[in-house]
Amino acid sequence: MSRSPFAANPPAEPASYSWEATDEGVAARFGIPVEQVVRFDLNTSPAPPALLAEMLAAGRFETSLSEYPPGDYRHLVEAAAARYGVGADEVVPGCGADEVLDMCVKAFLPAGGRSVIPTPTYAMYRVHTEQRGGVVVPVPRMGPDRGFALDLPAVRDAARDASVVWLCNPNNPTGAEEPDGAIEQLVAEIAADASGAGRRPPAVVVDEAYAEFTGRSVIPMRTRFPNLVVVRTASKAYALAGLRVGFAVAAPETLRRIALFRPPGSVGTISESVVTRALREPAAMEANVARVATERPRLAEALAAVGWAPYPSVAPFLLVDLGSRARASFAAEALMRRGLVPRTFSPGHPAAQCLRLTVRAPHENDRLIAAVREIAPEVPA
Ligand SMILES: Cc1ncc(COP(=O)(O)O)c(C=O)c1O
Repeated sequence: MSRSPFAANPPAEPASYSWEATDEGVAARFGIPVEQVVRFDLNTSPAPPALLAEMLAAGRFETSLSEYPPGDYRHLVEAAAARYGVGADEVVPGCGADEVLDMCVKAFLPAGGRSVIPTPTYAMYRVHTEQRGGVVVPVPRMGPDRGFALDLPAVRDAARDASVVWLCNPNNPTGAEEPDGAIEQLVAEIAADASGAGRRPPAVVVDEAYAEFTGRSVIPMRTRFPNLVVVRTASKAYALAGLRVGFAVAAPETLRRIALFRPPGSVGTISESVVTRALREPAAMEANVARVATERPRLAEALAAVGWAPYPSVAPFLLVDLGSRARASFAAEALMRRGLVPRTFSPGHPAAQCLRLTVRAPHENDRLIAAVREIAPEVPA
């Protein structure tokens, strides 16, 4: 019997992201109507801006949908550059921040190269590193009593023989941001160490997926530190996660290197056209940020009232420590039975005993609050 040459050497299972169940999966598992499912697990926003429906109804986009998107994404790049206060030669788009992170790995991390990841943080830095044959160097963050801040001396040490350092600010899943000046100090020290040793500094990738919620950014530092790459997205404050658009922002020479790894046409024409307009007309994004600023303390207070006090957060989500993974799993299951999907963390994850809850629309947060009031007394000690 002839055997397929493809089956001869199956590749080892690569590291991968583990997704929460889909709306349909949750509905089927718990026997509830799919329209009752609300995502408190994905840090997304409750509704896209009105301009999306308007543009889809008009059906007119940058170019005809029978063609590929414009190769240079000029309008999108110019709109992002204007929004972020940089030159058009300092922005490259990707299919979500996730593709941008992957481009950064391809651009800066050689096989066997070291990738410094302050933990806990966004899972994809590890996944991209391992998929490209890099070596993950985890550096634990400080504890909650220190605001989950970066352990600056430890990150600096680890950066000495690294190719890439990943900083997420505000950080997912803790919801905390670095104290003023901390990232600047770290990037300056990393650059000084490298120049003292006569080698190139590692790329420092600062993932600012949630920066609109604080109004702070390290983008202005790119002119002094060409090894700095800032990652932004249309998925969070702009409420357009389904369109999959993200950006790398960096000094022109760094940007050119990242752009070498941009796949052709990975941002679709509809996505390009809608996000271009959303960047030019930020009123809906600003209203979304204001919604989170009002709803976050209300939700945090209601959680605290039942003994689920979340850690302080500047992000559109709250991290609640339930004391053990068993308690977190019990609470997650009880929430999902009511159609409310929290983010859980696998055993061994530094936040395994926690639930992460997205701050959503007022009526959705009301449902969460009502559910938590019922569930909290039932969670076993
Ligand atoms: C810190 C961080 N970076 C990047 C992403 C992915 O963003 P995008 O939807 O633009 O790929 C997420 C999504 O949750 C995130 O939390």
